[in-house]
Amino acid sequence: MEKKVVFSGVQPSGGLTIGNYIGAIKNWISLQDEYDCYYSIVDLHAITVPQVPKDLRKNTLEVLAIYLACGLDSEKSTIFIQSHVPAHAELTWVLNTISYMGQLSRMTQFKEKSKKSEENLNAGLFTYPVLMAADILLYQTELVPVGEDQKQHLELARDLAERFNNKYSPTFQVPEPLIKKEGARIMSLQNPESKMSKSDENENGYILILDKPEAIRRKIKRAVTDSIGEVKYNDEQLGIKNLINIYSVFSGDTIEEIVNRYEGIGYGKFKEDLAEVVVEGLRPIQERYNELINDKDYLEKVYREGAEKASYIANKTLRRVYRKVGFIQR
Ligand code: AMP
Ligand code: TRP
Repeated sequence: MEKKVVFSGVQPSGGLTIGNYIGAIKNWISLQDEYDCYYSIVDLHAITVPQVPKDLRKNTLEVLAIYLACGLDSEKSTIFIQSHVPAHAELTWVLNTISYMGQLSRMTQFKEKSKKSEENLNAGLFTYPVLMAADILLYQTELVPVGEDQKQHLELARDLAERFNNKYSPTFQVPEPLIKKEGARIMSLQNPESKMSKSDENENGYILILDKPEAIRRKIKRAVTDSIGEVKYNDEQLGIKNLINIYSVFSGDTIEEIVNRYEGIGYGKFKEDLAEVVVEGLRPIQERYNELINDKDYLEKVYREGAEKASYIANKTLRRVYRKVGFIQR
C-alpha cells in the first residue's frame, strides 16, 4: 500500500524558536516512518517581508541544519529548498486565478502583517497563502502538521483544492491539518497573550533553538508570571500555563505530574528547573547542529537530492494541472 503524504515547512527568516520546534518540527520527526514526508525550507515565502540577501542564504542553510539536527532524516523524508522546485511558483500562478480577493483579505496573518507595513504593501504578502496551498497540493498531501496559527491557511488550501477539482475534474487530494493540542501555540515569555515569534522586538519573548544555556536561563528567569504564586494550570495564569506546557514537552512529564510536583513551591524553583529541562533538551540538538553547519558539502548533497525527488512528484501534478486548464504540452 502506498504511504500517505505529509507536507510542511518553515520560513528561513531568522533563527527558529522553541515555538517552531514544539508546534512543528518535533511532530514532523515522529511522522517519518509511517508517512511519505516532504519538509521544505520555504524561502519563497520568506521574501514576502524584507530580507537581507546574504542573511537569507545563511538562514536557509541554518534551517536545513536545524531540521537535520532535530532528527529529520534525508533517507526517510524529502528535505528541500522551496525555490529549487519551480513548480511551486508555477502552480501558485494557476491557483491565483481561482482565488478570491475577499477570502485572501480575510486572512488573519495578512491583516496582522499588513498593519505593520501599511504603506507599500506588497502583493506577495497577499497571495502568501496561495503559495502555501501550492506547496501542499503539488504532492497530493493528506496531512499537514503545523501550529494553530496556520489553520486558516489550511482551510484556504482545502477550498482551492475543491474549487479546482470541481471546476475541472478531480486533480488534488484535499489536505487535512494536523495540529497537536498541547504545544500548538507556545506563547511569548514576555506577553503570554501573544504567540512566541522570532519577529518579536523583545528578544526576551522567545527562546531560540540555538540559544546558549545562559541566554535560556536568563530568559526563563525573566518570563512574565503573576502574583498568585502557585504553579497551577489555568487561564487565570497564562504565563505559568505556557511555562508548564514548555516543561511538559521537553521533559515528557504530564501537566498533572508537573503541577503536583510544584505544589506549595514558588515560581523561582519551578523556573530554575524548567531552564535546566530546556537546556538539556536542546543540548543534543545544538551539538549535532554545530557539526552539521560546518559540513557544507553534506548539506548541499541533502538539498540537491531533496529537490530532485520533490521535483519529480511536483512536476507530475503540475503537468496534469496545465493540461486541464488548457495549456499546450511543452
Ligand atoms: P513560521 O515561523 O511562521 O515559518 O512557522 C513555522 C511553523 O512553526 C508553523 O507550523 C507554525 O505554526 C509553527 N509555529 C510558529 N510559532 C509557533 C508558536 N509560537 N507555537 C506553536 N507553533 C508555532
Ligand atoms: N506559512 C507557514 C508558516 O509560516 C510555512 C509554510 C509554507 C507551510 N508552506 C507551507 C506550512 C506548507 C505547512 C505547509 O508557518
